[in-house]
Amino acid sequence: MVSMEDAKGKVYFETYGCQMNFSDTELVAGILAKDHYEVVQDINDADLIFINTCSIRDNAEQRVFSRLQHLRGLKRRKGKELVVGVMGCMAERLKKDLIEKEKLVDVVVGPDAYRDVPRLIQMAKLGEKGINTLLSLEETYEDLTPLRTEGVSAWLTVMRGCDNFCTFCVVPFTRGRERSRPVGSVVSETELMSREGRIREITLLGQNVNSYNDNGRQFADLLQAVAAVDRSIRIRFATSHPKDFSDDVLRAVRDNENICKYIHIPFQAGANRVLEAMNRTYTREEYLDLIARMKQMIPGVSVSTDVMVGFPGETDEDYEQTLDLMRQVRFDTAFMFKYSPREGTKAWKMGDTVPEEVKADRLQKLIDLQERISYENNQNRIGTTEFVLIEGEAPRGDGFLRGKTDSNIFCVFPGEPGMKPGDLVRVRITGATGHTLKAEVLKEEPVTT
Ligand code: 5AD
Ligand code: SF4
Repeated sequence: MVSMEDAKGKVYFETYGCQMNFSDTELVAGILAKDHYEVVQDINDADLIFINTCSIRDNAEQRVFSRLQHLRGLKRRKGKELVVGVMGCMAERLKKDLIEKEKLVDVVVGPDAYRDVPRLIQMAKLGEKGINTLLSLEETYEDLTPLRTEGVSAWLTVMRGCDNFCTFCVVPFTRGRERSRPVGSVVSETELMSREGRIREITLLGQNVNSYNDNGRQFADLLQAVAAVDRSIRIRFATSHPKDFSDDVLRAVRDNENICKYIHIPFQAGANRVLEAMNRTYTREEYLDLIARMKQMIPGVSVSTDVMVGFPGETDEDYEQTLDLMRQVRFDTAFMFKYSPREGTKAWKMGDTVPEEVKADRLQKLIDLQERISYENNQNRIGTTEFVLIEGEAPRGDGFLRGKTDSNIFCVFPGEPGMKPGDLVRVRITGATGHTLKAEVLKEEPVTT
C-alpha cells in the first residue's frame, strides 16, 4: 500500500455488472497501487474516479449514465483536479461517443487495455482525453496481482472473452476473443493467497470456464490443480456453458472435497426453436440430460441458472417450455431477465417483437414459480448438515453470523465465542425462507481457522 504522503493521487472505484467486472476492478486497483496511487473508499476524497461498467442490458447502461450525471456536481467543484474514467464493457461499446456525450469523462479504457491506465491518467492530467479500447487476442493479465483488500472470498479470473456469439449477447463484442490464462499462473496466485492466509474461498471466473484450454490442459485439469493447492480453501467456478460441460469437470467436483457442490449453468430458454435462434448450440433435451448427469454423479448438487423471457419471436408455447423446464430441473436459484436488444448483435436485426407488457408478465410468472421452488428446495434442507464459511455478522445483529453454504445459499446462525470471518463451520439447518437458511452450529471445533 502507498502512504498518503507519497501517493500520486487517490482513486475511487465504482463497479457495476458481473463478478468479472469486480475482479477487473481489483486488477486495475492493483495496477494503480503499484504505480503509487492510493485506493480510497470515500468518493469525496478522490481525485480519480473509475466507473467499471456493464453493457449486458440497456438498464445496466442507463444506470451508469445517470450515475455520470450525478458526478457532474463533483466535477464542477473539483474541475481539472478530478479525473473521471469509464472502464469495462461500456467503454468498449461506446468508445469516443462516451467522451463526446458525457463531457465529464476524461479516460475511456476497454477490458484489454488496463495495463495502459497509468498512461491514460497522465494524458488526462495534461488536459487531453485518454482513450484505449483495443482488444487483444492474448491479454490475460497473468503476471499481475489484483488488489484484494477485504473479505474472505476472492475472485480469480482464469479466462477472458467469449467466442460463443449467442445472438442476444454483447459480450463477444465488448470483451473480445476467448483466451485462457496459463494453469501455472492461476496456481501461483492461489499459492500466494494460501500463504497470506486471509482468503478462504476462491471463485474461478470466466464467461465460459468450460472451454478453458491452456495448450491442451482443460478446465477439469485446472480445477484439480487449484483445489490441490490448499485443501482448506473452498473452490467455486462460474460461468458454465452447457455445450462444453464435460464429465471430467463433474468428476473433479465430485472427487475434491474442497470444490463446492454447486454449479451455475444458464439455460436461457426452454424451447428448441428459441435455443436455436439464440445460437446456444444445445437442445432442451441435451440440457436436461446434462442436469440429470450432474444430479446422478454429484448427489445433492445445487444448481442455479440464467434465463430470459421475450427473445424475438418467443411465443406463448415457447414460454411454456421455459416454465416447464424450470419445473423439471427445480433450480435452487435463477437469475431471470427480460430480453434487451443490443445493437450490433445478430438478434438486434430480429427486432424487439415481444411487447413490454408481455415480457413483464412472463417475467413475473417466472419469478413467482422460481420463488416457490427455491422455498420448497430450502424447506427440504431442514434437518440436513452443511458447511458454512463465516463472512461476518448477520444484518439482524443479536450475535448472529452469516455466510454461504457449500450450495451457495445465505445462511444465518447464532455465533459462538471465538468464531470469526474465515472459519468454516458445520451447521444443521433449522429453518428456511426462499433466500436464506437458518441454522445451528454443530458442536465441533471450526474446521479451519
Ligand atoms: N438481454 C437480456 N438478458 C441478457 N443476458 C445476456 N444478454 C442479454 C440480453 N441482451 C443475460 C443472460 C446471461 C446473463 C449474464 O445475462 O441470461 O447469461
Ligand atoms: Fe454471452 Fe453467450 Fe458468451 Fe455467455 S456464452 S458471454 S451469454 S455470448
